[in-house]
Amino acid sequence: MRSYKVLTVCLGNICRSPAAQGILESIACKHGVFLELDSAGTAAYHIGNPPDSRSINALHQVGIDISHQQARQVTKADFNEFDWILAMDRENLSNLKKIQPKNSKATLVMFGEFYDHAAFGEVVDPYYGGDEGFTEMRKHLTNISDAFVHHLNSHQED
Ligand code: 4NP
Repeated sequence: MRSYKVLTVCLGNICRSPAAQGILESIACKHGVFLELDSAGTAAYHIGNPPDSRSINALHQVGIDISHQQARQVTKADFNEFDWILAMDRENLSNLKKIQPKNSKATLVMFGEFYDHAAFGEVVDPYYGGDEGFTEMRKHLTNISDAFVHHLNSHQED
């Protein structure tokens, strides 16, 4: 079975990308796709911290535990370590492009583009809002993750 190394990336690595990691892990497992996953932030604000409690709770409601994750900042080495680097929004994507080494291995894309092209595939940052934003984030990430795993299954990437 082909396996893929996948890094999900947002700004702080405490809300969206840890949730994306947990959801992808769960969906890939159900579809027999083997993913080695990690997540990171473009910013250094929360290095070493667990995910935001609102993200932990939103995922706990669907039986996914992300409480063990620890925030870290993305590095240039990640671009040769991972097959896919999945950015949550345009700002993340732009900041990642700035540090992407030439001819690196990873395919760098907006995660949301696998699901819908509306709002340019962005996963809205829920950090400054209420709990309902985290529920919306979980639903959006679940739809995108389904589409991404389907993409991997149907394209059989080398
Ligand atoms: P994330 O959300 O990028 O989805 O982890 C944020 C977390 C923290 C901050 C901003 C966004 N912050 O400004 O500290």
